[in-house]
Amino acid sequence: MSKVLITGGAGFIGSYVCRKLLEMDHEVVVYDAFVHYISPLKSILKEYTELRFQGIADQIDFRRGDTRDKAHLRRVILETRPDRILHLAALPIADLSNRHSEEALTSILEGAVNVLEVLRDVDFVKRFVYISSSMIYGDFEEIPAPEDHPKHPKDIYGGTKYAGEVMTETYSRRYGIPYSIIRPSAVYGPYDVNRRVSQIFVENALLGKQIMLYGGGHQTLDFTYVEDAAEGMIKVMFHEKGDGKAFNITYGRGYTLRELAEILKTHFADLDVKIVEEEDVFRPKRGALSIEKAKSLVGYDPQVSLEEGIKRYLEVYRDLDVFKNHL
Ligand SMILES: NC(=O)c1ccc[n+]([C@@H]2O[C@H](COP(=O)([O-])OP(=O)(O)OC[C@H]3O[C@@H](n4cnc5c(N)ncnc54)[C@H](O)[C@@H]3O)[C@@H](O)[C@H]2O)c1
Repeated sequence: MSKVLITGGAGFIGSYVCRKLLEMDHEVVVYDAFVHYISPLKSILKEYTELRFQGIADQIDFRRGDTRDKAHLRRVILETRPDRILHLAALPIADLSNRHSEEALTSILEGAVNVLEVLRDVDFVKRFVYISSSMIYGDFEEIPAPEDHPKHPKDIYGGTKYAGEVMTETYSRRYGIPYSIIRPSAVYGPYDVNRRVSQIFVENALLGKQIMLYGGGHQTLDFTYVEDAAEGMIKVMFHEKGDGKAFNITYGRGYTLRELAEILKTHFADLDVKIVEEEDVFRPKRGALSIEKAKSLVGYDPQVSLEEGIKRYLEVYRDLDVFKNHL
């Protein structure tokens, strides 16, 4: 049995990791600042933290704290003595990172370096897992993109995530900190509230609103169901062969936004889809990532196709009052 401290553990992905770790009988400490990235006045699903932790909240040691507050972070790590740290806490959205670049730098980079600074001085943490992003690659030059693909991030989010990777490797080389790096992509599923494209499409479909396909809907993403992403993070965190390496943790297949809209149309025949040719030129051109390394070294085996993931997402949301009243 391990004790895992998850920075950003109260978030969308973190909550699924918490649930899985508890099912495996591990102890869980969540270190989280409980940040709202979307104005509470605008968010449709207001009670998302309760929903994420229904049935498990009392089994978790929740510590409110900001990774930018190094002294407090150090105190909590020394008090709780975890043997693994999963570092998810970060400003998680590319658009917001460009608009709030100062916050992106402190939240993504300084936060990660602060954890590494504490880890210089302790020997009880057996693995630090840094959650990066597939945005570090920039435009994909090879599809599926392997982990050694060139790193040419096109925006502040990808650049700061990549800087965090470099610092993780540097601290490890200099101070012997055991680490893994994980690059997820387009994670989706119930209780994401950061208004990524999958959430906007699913919620608009449920509310009978139009969905817009920018760039003609040709943008391709490796959509990853949140349960697969959480499972992959746990596999990397505990596996001996996860040490000192970077892994893509995605579904391993690219779907265009048009294909996502088509999947939704199988559930909502009247879905109103508008094609808009205009596109964001700073959005990297992406597609599938290679997951062969994670499959062969740590036994990662994602199970949920986009068709199945959307079905599961809708099954959960159709029961929520906020959407039921619109159906
Ligand atoms: N969701 C995706 O598609 C995706 C893809 C690639 C990478 N990631 C990365 O995964 C991580 C989690 O993303 P998510 O989708 O669960 O986002 P989320 O916003 O749901 O969760 C992030 C959590 O981190 C907390 N947090 C943020 N800054 C903090 C700080 N300075 N100190 C303490 N807590 C802080 C927030 O309160 C929140 O609970 C992020 O690092 C994100 O960049 C996500």
